[in-house]
Amino acid sequence: HADDIVYARSLIRTIQDYPRPGVAFRDITPLLADGRAMHATAQELLAQMPVSFDVVAGIEARGFIFAGAVAALAKTGMIPLRKAGKLPKPAYRLTYAKEYGEDQLEVSPDLKPGMRVLLIDDILATGGSLKAGADLVAAVGAEVTGIGVVLELQGLGGRSVMPQTRALFSM
Ligand code: PRP
Ligand code: MG
Repeated sequence: HADDIVYARSLIRTIQDYPRPGVAFRDITPLLADGRAMHATAQELLAQMPVSFDVVAGIEARGFIFAGAVAALAKTGMIPLRKAGKLPKPAYRLTYAKEYGEDQLEVSPDLKPGMRVLLIDDILATGGSLKAGADLVAAVGAEVTGIGVVLELQGLGGRSVMPQTRALFSM
C-alpha cells in the first residue's frame, strides 16, 4: 500500500505558468484517471481520519470526487457543500471572502445538527475553501471531527488557517 501512495503522488502533474505566468499548477486529473492511484488515495484519506464519524462532506467541485470515494469506502453518506445557486432548497448559506470578491457555499437539510463530519477537499492552498466548509458545518450545528486533503500547497498560508488538516501530499 505504501508503494501505491508513492505511485499516486507521482501522477500529480505540474503545469508551469498556468493559469498565470509564474504559477505552477498541480493537476490531479492523471491521478483521478488511474484506478490503483484513486483507490490508494481514497484509502489513505480515510486512514488518516478519526475512526468514528457519521458523514463525509465534500467541497464543490473537486472535493466531491474524494469525499464520494471516501464515503463509499467507509459506507457512510456524503454531503455536498455546493457553490451558490445549485441546491433547490439550501438550509444554510455561508458567504466567504476570496482573493477577488466573495463566494458562497450552501448545504441541504440532510446535514443535521450533531452529526460528526469528515470534511474533504482535493487541495489546501490559502485555506479559504476549507475554512468556509468548516464554518458552514458549524453553522448547521454539526461537528467537524476530521479534515483531509490530497495535496497541500506550501507557502500559501493554508496550514495556519486550517492547522488541523491532514494532507497526504505536500508540494
Ligand atoms: C480549488 C481547489 C480547492 C481550493 C483550494 O477550488 O479545488 O477547493 O481551490 O484553495 P484555497 O485553499 O485557497 O481555498 P476551486 O474553487 O478553484 O475549483 P473547483 O470548483 O474545481 O474545485
Ligand atoms: Mg475546489
